Amino acid sequence: MKKTRSQRGPRGTGGQPSRRPRSPGAGWAARPPHRSPASVDQPMQPLQIEALSHDGRGIGRVDGKACFVRGALPGEQVSWRRESSQRNFDQGSVVEVLVPSPQRQPPGCEYYPRCGGCSLRHLDAGAALAYKQQNFIADIERAGLSVEQWLAPLQGGSDGYRRRARLAVQKTRDGRVELGFRNAASRRIEPLQHCRVLTPLLSALLGELPSLLAAITLGVVEVELTESDGAEPVLLVALSAAPGELLNDSGAARLESAGATIAAALSLSPAQLQLWWRDHGERDFRPLGAASTAHIALSQQLLLACRPGQFLQVNGAVNRAMVEQVLALAGGGELAVDLFAGVGNFSLPLARRYRRVIAVEGLPELVASGAANAAANGIDNIEFHCADLNRPLPKTLLDAPRRERIDLLLIDPPRSGAAAAMDWIGATQAKQILYISCHPATLLRDAGQLLAAGYRWRRAVALDMFPHTAHLEALALFERD
Ligand SMILES: C[S@@+](CC[C@H](N)C(=O)[O-])C[C@H]1O[C@@H](n2cnc3c(N)ncnc32)[C@H](O)[C@@H]1O
Repeated sequence: MKKTRSQRGPRGTGGQPSRRPRSPGAGWAARPPHRSPASVDQPMQPLQIEALSHDGRGIGRVDGKACFVRGALPGEQVSWRRESSQRNFDQGSVVEVLVPSPQRQPPGCEYYPRCGGCSLRHLDAGAALAYKQQNFIADIERAGLSVEQWLAPLQGGSDGYRRRARLAVQKTRDGRVELGFRNAASRRIEPLQHCRVLTPLLSALLGELPSLLAAITLGVVEVELTESDGAEPVLLVALSAAPGELLNDSGAARLESAGATIAAALSLSPAQLQLWWRDHGERDFRPLGAASTAHIALSQQLLLACRPGQFLQVNGAVNRAMVEQVLALAGGGELAVDLFAGVGNFSLPLARRYRRVIAVEGLPELVASGAANAAANGIDNIEFHCADLNRPLPKTLLDAPRRERIDLLLIDPPRSGAAAAMDWIGATQAKQILYISCHPATLLRDAGQLLAAGYRWRRAVALDMFPHTAHLEALALFERD
């Protein structure tokens, strides 16, 4: 798959938040300048912005050379400052929006110019999704592929959608504790008291956490927050310890008491706020006190147990819509195979449509949770396997398509895609292949292999899992004639 440099954007685009004051017309997530010795930091001639890059910057051209401008939107004329100059492209940021886009909107967040969490709050969320989908369609065409039918994108609310977030923690010299999203290329965080993309309860919890962490005098480097949505919400606060920090009984007691105070401040019962702890270097969190199982609902009938540290689709509304879409596209039948199955987000719903489901996941603890989820929902037709899908497949799986036809093969890999399994997947001759992708670039690479193996790309759906960011996920259906 080939993409032009201008659409893909230069590498290393996620820099550290800038502390510089906002300029007139600003309201974008400011990023640090990539300096180069060439004439940088120069006010430039007004620039006409033609497109939006994959990382959410405006693209204009000066004498044919692409210029990536933070804070600029398609259709706008901006004055801008060049911050770095490479042979094939320049980078900079808006100084002033001279002619604004009708799609420009106030970001509505005081942290936005510095926080690494969002990057497109200055663009109407519906318009942002349309640009993201257009870029994806252009990538598909550039790769020489085509989709027979696009279905309507799946969207939820553009704020209050995140039920899971990991926040970095730092202590200031005067002993205050700050929490915030860390930018990819920076140790610096933007201290947040609330956050508009988190669910309202998680946002309120965020404001209470600095005092909790300051009070317990325990070194914590990261906090993972989750809101479950079973019968009543349960907040899971999972603390990752700093190196050398050990939690003794009195530390645990202090934490639990501070947790109870926060629950009361948020009008929750003590059982609705669970505290979990992970020693430095450990993979698993352990609950402090007796934590009853918290659930997320896939539908009214299906509940998944929810544990800190285990993969969870962070946007509950879009996840439920995605599961429904999968069921609407899946033809049903004898055998479905769910690769990269996690804790059964798709396997459990598919088990109601197929006589048998084979679920394959690489992490043993997720396989165990998937099996427990199936049992808890009264489902007994899923076989869970633990296997590394980056390595040659286990013989039981390799032989499956020889023994019986696969009606549906669902793949939901991490960002790196499913390259190592694609030969086998293409050769299964599965009737339908549903590919859920959190990184369209690797979907395109893997789709090329499916098309070469005789599949047709029948349907595609854009999934707006992370509104106000440049991130897009996608669902793709492949079928054989
Ligand atoms: C995007 S998540 C999807 C999980 C699940 N389908 C869901 O919707 O919740 C990808 C899953 O693939 C698993 N995974 C990542 N690399 C893997 C590998 N090499 N082999 C098997 N599973 C892997 C991860 O542990 C994770 O559960």
